[in-house]
Amino acid sequence: MSDITTDPTIDSTTDPAIGLIDKHGRHIDYVRLSLTDRCDFRCVYCMSEEMTFLPRNQILSLEEIYKVAQAFTELGVNKIRLTGGEPLIRNNVMSLIKDIGQLPGLDELLLTTNGSQLEKLAGPLREAGVNRINISLDSLNAEKFKTMTRTGKLKQVLKGVETAVAAGFDSIRLNAVVLRGVNDHEIIDLLEYAMGLGINIAYIEEMPLGNINDHERQDTVFSNEEVKELILERYAISPIDMSTAGPSRYYQVEGQRTKVGFISPVSHNFCESCNRVRVTVEGRLLLCLGNEYSTDLRQLLRDQPENIELLKQTIVKSMDIKPLRHYFYDEEQPQIVRFMNMTGG
Ligand code: 5AD
Ligand code: SF4
Repeated sequence: MSDITTDPTIDSTTDPAIGLIDKHGRHIDYVRLSLTDRCDFRCVYCMSEEMTFLPRNQILSLEEIYKVAQAFTELGVNKIRLTGGEPLIRNNVMSLIKDIGQLPGLDELLLTTNGSQLEKLAGPLREAGVNRINISLDSLNAEKFKTMTRTGKLKQVLKGVETAVAAGFDSIRLNAVVLRGVNDHEIIDLLEYAMGLGINIAYIEEMPLGNINDHERQDTVFSNEEVKELILERYAISPIDMSTAGPSRYYQVEGQRTKVGFISPVSHNFCESCNRVRVTVEGRLLLCLGNEYSTDLRQLLRDQPENIELLKQTIVKSMDIKPLRHYFYDEEQPQIVRFMNMTGG
């Protein structure tokens, strides 16, 4: 478990100078906003083949998402990540991104994308103030890529990655979910592709989110320890102190610009330093990736659309229910049926 205790003297606070603090004394300065539950891909670990997406009236409008972003920055949040589904397929998304990019107090605007729209949008995103992007890439083999994403085209994504590199973001990271027997033989190829472009790469352990029908997740889990061992057979990597307050640990490939991240939500517990919350596209403020604790912001946004103070107070109060930690594969805890595209990767 963790070494933090619940300190009764620590209370959630509305003081913007102090910012958002939860019951466990954790400072929340990072929000992940999902812009859509839809995606042009159907990755096997994320979705089932047939998906039903939310009807329009259940998802936040661009204006409502902007208000949520504004409320969080007024509460001291200085880092926002835009996610999905695939955020870049939402209609008129660039105008929202531009507006969020100009919010006072925001130091970093980040984006997670599958890369399908980057050939066209990388330049505009950079201009809109996006600092860093993560691009999902699980395979460099066109057929395997197609198997894993079901509907994705490798060539289009690689063009997107290369356009993004040319657009001059502060950093770019590839995200590879490693599945045993599926793409584990491509770990080195993906690393070398990242090294060739001078960008970073993170290997992600599959998380048990949503009931998928493609494979038994416990059979395909490939631990990051194994990934690291495979890399060490070829390359010298050394740990770097790059605190992300999240599930990633970073290593520098010696003599290269590339950093390698290991994201181990299953094998490592990182909850004690958690600094983040998520807002789904339905306007659910999710306090933890692996639990169902949440607050409905949508109702509030619709009942009192001009009342940003109430929105802020509701966010502050929600910090009280942020749980101490999450449990995956714990039989005493309910299974999470929420899919990753509903969670906001
Ligand atoms: N487990 C781990 N990673 C996942 N992603 C989507 N679903 C899962 C899952 N069940 C990844 C995507 C993307 C990142 C945001 O999350 O590949 O890179
Ligand atoms: Fe889409 Fe990302 Fe889910 Fe793949 S992992 S289906 S790209 S949301």
